[in-house]
Amino acid sequence: MCGIVGYVGPRDAVPVLLEGLHRLEYRGYDSAGIAVEDAGGGGVRVAKTAGRVADLRRAVPDDMAGATGIAHTRWATHGEPSDRNAHPHVDAAGRIAIVHNGVFENSDRLRAQLVADGVALASDTDSEVLAHLVARSTGETLEDAVREALAQVEGTYGVIVMDAERPGELVAARRGSPVVLGVGEQEMLVASDVAALVRYTQQVIYLDDDEIATVTADGYRTSTMGARATSTTRSPTSIDAASAEYELGDHPDFMYKEMREQPDAVDRCLRGRLDHRFSSARLDGVGLTPQDYQRIRRVKLLGCGSAYYAGQLGAQLIEELARIPADAEPASEFRYRNPVVDPDTLYVVLSQSGETLDTLAAVQELKRKGGHVIGVVNAVGSTIARECGHGLFLHAGPEVSVAATKSFTTMGVALAMLALDLGRVRDLSITEGRRLVGGLSQLPDQIARILAAEDEIAEIARKYADARHMFFVGRVRAWPAAREGAQKLKEISYVHAEAYQASELKHGPLALINPEMPTVVLVPDDELLTKNTGTIEEIKARGGPVIAVTDAELPAGLATDVIRVPKAHEALSPITLSVPLQLFAYHLAHALGRDVDRPRNLAKSVTVE
Ligand code: AGP
Repeated sequence: MCGIVGYVGPRDAVPVLLEGLHRLEYRGYDSAGIAVEDAGGGGVRVAKTAGRVADLRRAVPDDMAGATGIAHTRWATHGEPSDRNAHPHVDAAGRIAIVHNGVFENSDRLRAQLVADGVALASDTDSEVLAHLVARSTGETLEDAVREALAQVEGTYGVIVMDAERPGELVAARRGSPVVLGVGEQEMLVASDVAALVRYTQQVIYLDDDEIATVTADGYRTSTMGARATSTTRSPTSIDAASAEYELGDHPDFMYKEMREQPDAVDRCLRGRLDHRFSSARLDGVGLTPQDYQRIRRVKLLGCGSAYYAGQLGAQLIEELARIPADAEPASEFRYRNPVVDPDTLYVVLSQSGETLDTLAAVQELKRKGGHVIGVVNAVGSTIARECGHGLFLHAGPEVSVAATKSFTTMGVALAMLALDLGRVRDLSITEGRRLVGGLSQLPDQIARILAAEDEIAEIARKYADARHMFFVGRVRAWPAAREGAQKLKEISYVHAEAYQASELKHGPLALINPEMPTVVLVPDDELLTKNTGTIEEIKARGGPVIAVTDAELPAGLATDVIRVPKAHEALSPITLSVPLQLFAYHLAHALGRDVDRPRNLAKSVTVE
């Protein structure tokens, strides 16, 4: 959460920083700000405002320019979204400017100390203290001063600091929040995410935790934090995303673009990984031998939000295809319950961004206790991918919209391949393996056909736009897809959507069914088909409208509305069934006039607790 960006080089920093913020806006969008070393020698100039980057563009004075600058787009943790709480923050003399992503947990104490020392604080934020601490430091260099200041804070940070008295220099540091350096031709950028850099360079360095960098137009030097600083030798690596992948193109919003990209994303995820000869999957990145696979007694999948639901979907696939007990758990809960970490369990951690703090903390807890953990991650070079060391990349391409779409479907595909690979080392027959390889190969085409039916789904979605509450129900395989469908609807439309196992309805929630409570029922064409049609009858008998999402042939008139999808391999149906739910949520949200890419209170990539 929060996007930070810095620039030093021959260009005017203002347009570079505004462009960077525009690309980082999905990380937070309640206020934005920019600070540059004034080209006219006037020290640090700051422009900031509550609202979006577009509001900041209007607030930046025409004559604001400089070759060095920092900028921030905020997702509020401490202090309401307002002009005064927007970053950058400056010290009392207006010399030091800072941007911060993360949380300083001891900020109350530090703020009280500063106030006791006569410092007038200008905001309610935890972050502002850093500007004052750097200004008060006796360190000889800016880097020394930042080190000294950061030694006093507790919590997480990705920070960039500049000093009007040391023009042409930025200092960046990280603990728990991502910082990446972009190495250009006689220019350097710093950001919380490569999205802000790709337009200017493909050469990047991901800072490690407790690493600090001094950056000038000519280059950079990095070293460890802590009392005894040690230089770290960091060579740039190339990023795999082209600038165009972050562009909206002709699409109305990123969620739409990313839903539409799913056939290609799934195709890329599958590419080179299906083993037709042995009816299995080739997952070299997992780094496990067949003997290692044989020793696995359990699989535990961890992720947050949609990644957790994808983990549930994967647990079902693994148990069904590989016959290994498997379950999923929210990564956000994991470390706080002092989990038993078992050497015979394979831990699979899921994250689109690779930066979700709760998920990263789960990985660190697992590693500390000797657990074997692999990552299923979209963002190459991300902290979780690097921390895991082994796993599967989704190759879905950048996902910008807050609502996960193509990352969810490709997580399902990646986990289906893992289940296939595990299964083929155990009891899954070559015939069943071949059927699943065939089913996986058909997914890109099947998803394209679902997307082609968008108009019909949109019409059904608009019909239910007045509903204030909705149920999403599914059984066994379809249950994680129902949870994801409810999540999509709530986060982008703000309609209350609750997911239930279809089998649990009659144990309580059926009491809520009435003509004002539509229920989306997922009906895969599997061995539970008649159970699901029975559920539809029970809802109808109580006057509840039913939207059936199915790859089966349902009797005419059974459901109020039917969304048909192509028939998938039964184990893969939760993946195909989830795609129309994205379109349903998207069009319902649009019917309500929502900003689907920037839902209220949310941000992509949750890098705070
Ligand atoms: C889903 O639409 C949300 N964006 C959210 O639940 C997300 O899946 C979760 O925060 C995990 O993000 P990650 O995959 O980047 O770790």
